[in-house]
Amino acid sequence: MMSSGSRPSPRVRRNRFIAAVIGMVLVAIVVIWAILAFTPSADSASPSASPSATPTSTPRPAPTATPTPTPVETFDKSARSIDDPDSIWVVVDKLRPLNPADYEPSDLVVVPVPHTWEPLMRAEAADAVVKMFQAASAEAGLSLASNSAYRSYEAQERIYDNDDELTARPGFSEHQTGLTIDIGPESGNCSLAVCFADTPEGQWLRDNAHRFGFLLRYPADKAQVTGYQFEPWHFRYIGTDLSNEMHEKGITTLEEFFGLPAAPNYA
Ligand code: DAL
Ligand code: ZN
Repeated sequence: MMSSGSRPSPRVRRNRFIAAVIGMVLVAIVVIWAILAFTPSADSASPSASPSATPTSTPRPAPTATPTPTPVETFDKSARSIDDPDSIWVVVDKLRPLNPADYEPSDLVVVPVPHTWEPLMRAEAADAVVKMFQAASAEAGLSLASNSAYRSYEAQERIYDNDDELTARPGFSEHQTGLTIDIGPESGNCSLAVCFADTPEGQWLRDNAHRFGFLLRYPADKAQVTGYQFEPWHFRYIGTDLSNEMHEKGITTLEEFFGLPAAPNYA
């Protein structure tokens, strides 16, 4: 028994000490919790206080492959008619006869160049032939001659030899447009023959005719498109806009350039 006023027993004092320690620990926990709970963190600081300080993220573009430029088609393939026989772009082949069949150009002139058969051509084409022959002479010392140029429907009737791979039927020949010329060396060597392709004159024309608005119309590898065997002497005037465009694009037939059907045979 313990009387009032007497010193607590050791056991009581130890319990009081433990209670005091527990109490202090609890107070410390409460204080630390309060500090953490009410101290603004760096992340949450200011958005409401200062909207202008809201960090704006700068969007980065998603990494992409290097863009391939899309070629811009600048050449207008519909700038001239390919149907009108008066158009320098008219396409004549075994599926595309002249319309009308007996078409005659209205501006034929004599082409003032060496020849075996007096050449007539439309004026614009005739001027281009003269310039081309002059350039062949000035640039390469070559002498060219015309073997055949404009041929009327009746003239084509006379020369048509029933070989559809070599000669066009009347009404189907480019020669009737007044825009076409068969060229050979003035010497006559290999004239109107495939070996013309191997002569200096044939090679110069192959490489340079486009500069003057001409197209080697029946290439060796396109007989199934044009309908005719290789004619390294047959040049068709189409104007420099089109001849240079075809040359740059590496397209060698009018059928392919204008997306027309191949014309190996008559309909
Ligand atoms: N030799 C060409 C194809 C013509 O007769 O027009
Ligand atoms: Zn010809």
